[in-house]
Amino acid sequence: MTLPKAQTKPLRFVKGGALHTLHDVPPDRTLLDVLREDLHRTGTKEGCGEGDCGACTVVVGHLQGGKLQTRAVNSCIKLAHSLDGMALWTVEDLAAPGGRMHPAQEALVQCHGSQCGFCTPGFVMSMAALCEQAGAKPLTRESAQQALSGNLCRCTGYRPILDAACQMQLLPPMPLDSPALRRQLKALAQSVAADKAAVAAPAQSTDSAYLAPSTLPELLALRQAHPDAQLVAGCTDVGLWVTKQHRQFARVLDTTRVDELRQVDRYPHHIAIGAAVSLQDAFAALVKDRPQLQSFADRFAGLPVRNAGTLGGNVANGSPIGDSMPLLIALGSNIVLASTRGYREMPLESLYTAYRQTCMAADEVLAYIKVPRPQRAELSRVYKISKRTEDDISAVCLALQLQIHKGKVTHASIGAGGVAATPARARATEAALRGQPWTEAMVRAAMDTLRAEFSPISDMRASGDYRRQVLGNLLWRFWLESHGQIATDIHRLDLELQA
Ligand SMILES: Cc1cc2nc3c(=O)[nH]c(=O)nc-3n(C[C@H](O)[C@H](O)[C@H](O)COP(=O)(O)OP(=O)(O)OC[C@H]3O[C@@H](n4cnc5c(N)ncnc54)[C@H](O)[C@@H]3O)c2cc1C
Ligand code: FES
Ligand code: FES
Repeated sequence: MTLPKAQTKPLRFVKGGALHTLHDVPPDRTLLDVLREDLHRTGTKEGCGEGDCGACTVVVGHLQGGKLQTRAVNSCIKLAHSLDGMALWTVEDLAAPGGRMHPAQEALVQCHGSQCGFCTPGFVMSMAALCEQAGAKPLTRESAQQALSGNLCRCTGYRPILDAACQMQLLPPMPLDSPALRRQLKALAQSVAADKAAVAAPAQSTDSAYLAPSTLPELLALRQAHPDAQLVAGCTDVGLWVTKQHRQFARVLDTTRVDELRQVDRYPHHIAIGAAVSLQDAFAALVKDRPQLQSFADRFAGLPVRNAGTLGGNVANGSPIGDSMPLLIALGSNIVLASTRGYREMPLESLYTAYRQTCMAADEVLAYIKVPRPQRAELSRVYKISKRTEDDISAVCLALQLQIHKGKVTHASIGAGGVAATPARARATEAALRGQPWTEAMVRAAMDTLRAEFSPISDMRASGDYRRQVLGNLLWRFWLESHGQIATDIHRLDLELQA
């Protein structure tokens, strides 16, 4: 059954140097469907339709402080209207008018990086974004691997593709950015703003089936007026409800244009991450304070999902196997919910009431995630157990933050994922550790407490027994690492004292 939908405003974006204006695009239509079915641009491929394979990767760009910011995203789970006012590149837009190929394309040819070719447009777009962002900075194999972490190839093998990604900089550059494009985007932004100003704001914007407010008060007013509208951020969860569950939304309320929610603010005692900050930027902010989190950040989905998805979406979605929540719980984070009635703040773990249920009221949104800055003598780690290293969801996730003074645990907070109906705090284990000596015997006792604290279910990712066993093992791993860390620290301190 097709739902009756309010009309949407025209969707405008710059593609291949030309301004496109599309009318009557339904609020829940994906960008991939617009490209392939409406615009008949079939270079972008559809593989999985769920953000997993990268065949549909495109590059989007917007102006930030006058500079063009580009990123690769999955068009199959991106709602088309989220592109309004932006620039878009698909594989058809890269070659120069005379036919000269983009360095990403040319390098793939030279390195024999394509066989059947189905995945190639997606790889080309991820590589083009990498090339654009790197500029003159030399590309490493590691940066290439990161950039291609969301692209799968089933026949060529990754070595020639990675070779191509590393070598594309040796070819004559072909930047996506240009003064002409920036002028176009500026003019487009002005006309979008003028359209907005020309209408009686709340009334007119309320009539649109795709609502993309740019301020928090506007978002809250719309949330109150339309509690039935589907709230979306990066759409990396919601997009699958459209493509896999065939759900339809008569109205969509998009948080990603709200300035206040797109900021990371650093304070002496905490950082406040806006709910609409992308996962990539949010993890960069967390890693700045705690560099040891980098490898965990790199294992959250693949780069196109991290570019589109938000930290707020991960937390609000409330999946028991969501990755950021165990970490945020262990770090002692609070969340701030906002509505036209005001703000309320609570520890993150208090948000969840049951499986995928939260205490958020129908007129509320998640506004900020407040993460404490590192403490002296803090030892923190997060471990993700999944079947694949990259682009996979956790079977079990364990995050720990301990403070150890003179061999005693003075503070312990532990977050766990994949072991209960919601992301959870391991309170019994925390209590078992607090005030105790940080010794092997103590840790072994705490491992038993941790294994007994949860009754995980068995599912396709892992059995309940395995999950329980792994939980304890991860605490053991933490002990071993912390032991090494403490030994290293003591050794370093000794050397400093001797010098
Ligand atoms: C291929 C793939 C790999 C993935 N890998 C991982 C992984 O490794 N680890 C992991 O944890 N997740 C993973 N995910 C899931 C997903 O990417 C994350 O949950 C992501 O953070 C969701 O954010 P979003 O902005 O896309 O949310 P959306 O899909 O836009 O929204 C998700 C939910 O949150 C709600 N919401 C969003 N913003 C707000 C707000 N401000 N206030 C209130 N409610 C809000 C929406 O209404 C919706 O119910 C993966 C997804 C895909 C497609
Ligand atoms: S089609 Fe597979 S990620 Fe989009
Ligand atoms: S070349 Fe065939 S899937 Fe990659």
